[in-house]
Amino acid sequence: MIVRTGAALRARVAGWRAAGERVGLVPTMGALHEGHLYLVRAARAATERVVVSIFVNPKQFGPHEDFSKYPRGETRDISMAVGAGASLIFAPSVEEMYPPDFATAVRLNGPAEGLESDHRPGHFQGVATVVAKLLLLCLPDAAWFGEKDHQQLLVVRRMVEDLAIPARIEAIETVREPDGLAMSSRNRYLTADERRIAPALYATLSAVAARVRAGADPAAAADWGREALRHAGFDPVEYVEVRDALTLATVSDRAHPLRVLSAARLGVTRLIDNVAV
Ligand code: PAJ
Repeated sequence: MIVRTGAALRARVAGWRAAGERVGLVPTMGALHEGHLYLVRAARAATERVVVSIFVNPKQFGPHEDFSKYPRGETRDISMAVGAGASLIFAPSVEEMYPPDFATAVRLNGPAEGLESDHRPGHFQGVATVVAKLLLLCLPDAAWFGEKDHQQLLVVRRMVEDLAIPARIEAIETVREPDGLAMSSRNRYLTADERRIAPALYATLSAVAARVRAGADPAAAADWGREALRHAGFDPVEYVEVRDALTLATVSDRAHPLRVLSAARLGVTRLIDNVAV
């Protein structure tokens, strides 16, 4: 049910392939919640076999970020993933994924520029490198990603197309708590007071989207959103932007679908969210 090496993963997938079964991949960093389980269920609905990878990827954390403190709980994660339909858990060690002589990185321009990258330099290089390796080890028919990390989704789509990695990339809508807060492994860092403030992120982004839909200038609506988040208690508000949903380019016309994206902090916790206009 759990394998820890790329060779063992390949052997299991080869067995399924020989039996004519389709294979789905759901990459995660563990600390699973209902959002992750939606991805697993969607993968299971489309493929006979689902691999869930659990790997807290050091390359996508900055030197002052929460890599060492990132929540880990493998036993619980495995039973949740299997309960949602996973056939196999791939949980490699850091040394398995990145042996001491590992020297390669996947770096993108385009959708990887700006927004998250302004505040987390190198983050998407770490994401792209690990996702490329996971896709190439598993070679799934498709892999599932969440809209919760909209910029990450665009980065992965771009990379897969540019490098001709033979896997379909599927996206799943953001799964939210009843009060609108996007589910995230990092929500558990929030204090009770911060947890009460946190739903204001989604509420504010929804209000920005409504303003743009009603004809407001996107930049003015984003300014309003930044101020509203500050007023709610987010500090700092790293960004609130209205961008082209497909390229993340600054919008000059309304011909393309737009997306409101934001990152803001409550105490030590960095929250991100985004909504369609
Ligand atoms: P992680 O944060 O564990 O998320 C794994 C996947 O679950 C991502 O595709 C993410 O977008 C999705 N997800 C998280 N919260 C969600 C929610 N509330 N609703 C829907 N989907 C949600 O994202 C990563 O890990 C890593 O960067 C990874 C892609 C695994 C590479 O290391």
